Amino acid sequence: MLFKQQAWLRQKLLVLGSLAVGSLLYLVARVGSLDRLQPICPIEGRFGGARNQAEFPLRALQFKRGLLHEFRKGNASKEQVRLHDLVQQLPKAIIIGVRKGGTRALLEMLNLHPAVVKASQEIHFFDNDENYAKGIEWYRKKMPFSYPQQITIEKSPAYFITEEVPERIYKMNSSIKLLIIVREPTTRAISDYTQVLEGKERKNKTYYKFEKLAIDPNTCEVNTKYKAVRTSIYTKHLERWLKYFPIEQFHIVDGDRLITEPLPELQLVEKFLNLPPRISQYNLYFNATRGFYCLRFNIIFNKCLAGSKGRIHPEVDPSVITKLRKFFHPFNQKFYQITGRTLNWP
Ligand code: A3P
Repeated sequence: MLFKQQAWLRQKLLVLGSLAVGSLLYLVARVGSLDRLQPICPIEGRFGGARNQAEFPLRALQFKRGLLHEFRKGNASKEQVRLHDLVQQLPKAIIIGVRKGGTRALLEMLNLHPAVVKASQEIHFFDNDENYAKGIEWYRKKMPFSYPQQITIEKSPAYFITEEVPERIYKMNSSIKLLIIVREPTTRAISDYTQVLEGKERKNKTYYKFEKLAIDPNTCEVNTKYKAVRTSIYTKHLERWLKYFPIEQFHIVDGDRLITEPLPELQLVEKFLNLPPRISQYNLYFNATRGFYCLRFNIIFNKCLAGSKGRIHPEVDPSVITKLRKFFHPFNQKFYQITGRTLNWP
């Protein structure tokens, strides 16, 4: 009798176990598609490839992403690449800056979209003369494999402040979309300084205090020769870009808001890139230990940015902060006026 009961119980457990595994597998497949509860929808707008777009629902692109991931590891043969219709495409949009504005976070978050493929490394093609001399085919070959209907995005924050870059990008594609992520200028300058300071400390070197670099000791005015200060004068750099591209080709991302409230900022970028809205709150979760939002691709795969993003800044003399904020104020007003985006900086 006892033996019979045990066998019956084992059988029941087996059925329940299979059901649980089945449901889990279904959930993985379902959630992994990222376009849950939404109708399958082709990619809109001008990023369409040569084929009939209706043949490429976003869900299919999302599914194929798993394959892409394998290819990215570099194990694909030429035959596999051809078979899966993979190509290395020049970017349709570039995050041109600003250094320490949140460029990595923006790129990684946009990569949550099934129609976006990121170039993982900063390529430094347009700002580095040696790379630029290698030609556009060299640049294209640095791009990740993607499906023709996807768009490639790269980020190299040095582009924003490098003199030659706007003309070079214009020569490649005069209708390219340009993303600029900015943070409150003084905070950005301190973040910039913190990164350099950490590099020095790693090499056991000493470095000046921020105050000493940012303020000219002779005049007691803001030191405009200090690179971290100059980079934060956004309007000066943008004016150089505007000699080549109309303002409509730029989109300004609020880097401070991307930290605290990433979704609305990403939705604005989706709109700017003519992509159907696919990034949702599900894809972003706040990690209290990191103090930042992290990324959730599906029920299994999630990640936070590396520890080098979100450093603790050194304390800076409040009078220096006030001086810097006063200095940046008129440049900020001009920046708001040119871009049509007002950011509530002091
Ligand atoms: P701090 O290190 O000063 O906090 P970049 O990628 O352009 O170098 O920018 C780095 C900045 O991205 C970090 O500056 C951090 O504040 C910001 N950031 C925005 N969103 C983030 C996120 N989800 N995780 C980590 N850092 C993020």
